[in-house]
Amino acid sequence: MTPEPHLLPNGRVLRYSYRERLVHWLAGFSYVYLLLTGLAFWSPWLFWIAVVLGGATVSRELHPWAGLVFVAAVLMMYRMWASGMKESPADAAWWKAVRHYIRNEDEQMPSADRFNPGQKLLFWGFLWNGLLLLLSGVILWFPQYIPWSLRFLRYLAVIVHPVCALLTIGLFIIHVYMGAAIERGAFGSVIRGDVSRAWADRHHHTWYRQLLRDSEARK
Ligand code: HEM
Repeated sequence: MTPEPHLLPNGRVLRYSYRERLVHWLAGFSYVYLLLTGLAFWSPWLFWIAVVLGGATVSRELHPWAGLVFVAAVLMMYRMWASGMKESPADAAWWKAVRHYIRNEDEQMPSADRFNPGQKLLFWGFLWNGLLLLLSGVILWFPQYIPWSLRFLRYLAVIVHPVCALLTIGLFIIHVYMGAAIERGAFGSVIRGDVSRAWADRHHHTWYRQLLRDSEARK
């Protein structure tokens, strides 16, 4: 018999493959480094962070390279997850009930697919802001190559870069809070890869039901 791709023999459900977890943590660690060094450059009050992380020169040298790693990871996420992140007709009902989600009243939420609409928003937010951070970051990295006639691009980059960074900080705080503190069992899914059947059924009912149907069809 061919092994179940998602319903594991130990009675648990595979939520994230090894590759998905690896890419996720590549994005996670590179983002935290970008966040810390970016905050150090942003305010003199936070400059001590750069000192702790090896000094100003090291932070300034590594920040753009970490940016390339982060955007590469986000693009890999796009390849892996974009199809599951598309808006669906069921999303409107989920947003209507979002206050229950915030209060952790999951039993009052409409059924969600593999990714709920909040997760989709986070995904697209990181993707578009990541791309804008990359574009503006490259201009800030090599300003000497921007011709004088196109100097407005430099001024634009100085504004776009911190605005997009602030937007991702908002997404990041909500994401870490939801994933690590509120949704019990979610953090384990990006470490070990699996979740209990009860968790899958409670948080991603539509997805879980589809896995059961696929499994039945394969028998
Ligand atoms: C470094 C701290 C981070 C922690 C503790 C964390 C935690 C988590 C957890 C627990 C999940 C699984 C949620 C679920 O399936 O219900 C997850 C998924 C995910 N993470 Fe992270 N994450 C972090 C950083 C990031 C960063 C920087 C990004 C930016 C690209 C990111 C993007 C995603 C995406 C797109 C998913 C799949 C959908 C979702 O759950 O939103 N994560 N993360």
